[in-house]
Amino acid sequence: MKIPFVDLHTQYLTLKTDIDAAISDVIANTAFVGFANNPYVTAFQEHFAAYTGAKHCIGCANGTDAIELALRALNIGPEDEVIVPAQTWISTAEAVTAVGAQVRFVDTQKTTQNINSELIEAAITSKTKAVIAVHLRGLPADLDPILEITQKHGLFLLEDCAQAHGAIYKDRHVGTFGIMGTFSFFPGKTLGAYGDAGGIITNDDLCAEKLQRLVNHGSLHKGEHLIEGRNSRLDGLQAAILDVKLPYLQQWVEARRKCAALYSQHLQGSSLLLPGDSKHGRHAYHLYVIESHNRDELAEKLNLAGYPTGIHYPRGLPFLQCYAYMQATEANFPVAFNQPKRILSLPIFPELSEEHIEAISRIIS
Ligand SMILES: Cc1ncc(COP(=O)(O)O)c(C=O)c1O
Repeated sequence: MKIPFVDLHTQYLTLKTDIDAAISDVIANTAFVGFANNPYVTAFQEHFAAYTGAKHCIGCANGTDAIELALRALNIGPEDEVIVPAQTWISTAEAVTAVGAQVRFVDTQKTTQNINSELIEAAITSKTKAVIAVHLRGLPADLDPILEITQKHGLFLLEDCAQAHGAIYKDRHVGTFGIMGTFSFFPGKTLGAYGDAGGIITNDDLCAEKLQRLVNHGSLHKGEHLIEGRNSRLDGLQAAILDVKLPYLQQWVEARRKCAALYSQHLQGSSLLLPGDSKHGRHAYHLYVIESHNRDELAEKLNLAGYPTGIHYPRGLPFLQCYAYMQATEANFPVAFNQPKRILSLPIFPELSEEHIEAISRIIS
């Protein structure tokens, strides 16, 4: 029997009545666009901020815009440099380029695929303004040493939490350690909309107000534009859908952790490298990524048995063609160069059955 990599349909069926009602409600109220007075957007923003423990949440159009808008809120632009991990989705770097700043890649840790905090200081120059820590796969980056460095050098810390809904560092949600934390609510994310959507959380009142303006052409009130902004509003339909789903987020994170624990139990003793919590980081398992020297062979076997897999991501960012001008080498980024050849993402979603986890594990162990 073939299963999907992520089963969005089953999740929809379990929430169908409430989601359909929410969609009808938005349409009946013609509350489509997310101005400051859209009740669905306001409600979701308040609820997501409360879930994460942040003071503010500002919805926006997607997780890529969330990073770009956060950088704009900090006035980061041409002449500035921003440190970005060498293994992440391209959005993290694209957002830096979009504001006119220069990306400075830093290699990642072998064990976690997150930014290697020990290499950050060597990448800081007089132009560096911020570090973006990405909590890749749902595992928090090592925030303590990163914060120590950003504080020492007077840099902003931004957290890209696009894959880390529900991830905890020490005793707090990720996204609340840096000046802002950015989220994607892309449909396949642990908390996903039914289209593109994103958001930024912050405890900083000035950043929050600036973000509210930036997502809506610089305007909080009709006719008033203190600054120029963007059209990057979270729309009413997506906000209403997200608000129906949000109360289930924690139980979905726990279900993902249960799937991960089962995988790890079955795969223990194999030659595979397995993911897990870190010293202070509680993994939210947006992805369950194993490492193997015969990755392609395992992927092929799983595929033939009806189990799709993914590779997140096939190349370290410095080695993408669009960054060829940086002339990155294996010697500069040994982990980001080599690790992508070994990683394999196994199916993981809250409704994944024990039987499937066992079958997948049997095929690859
Ligand atoms: C680490 C990371 N950052 C940013 C994004 C961008 O989010 P979006 O697709 O909503 O623009 C993603 C999306 O996959 C991501 O994985």
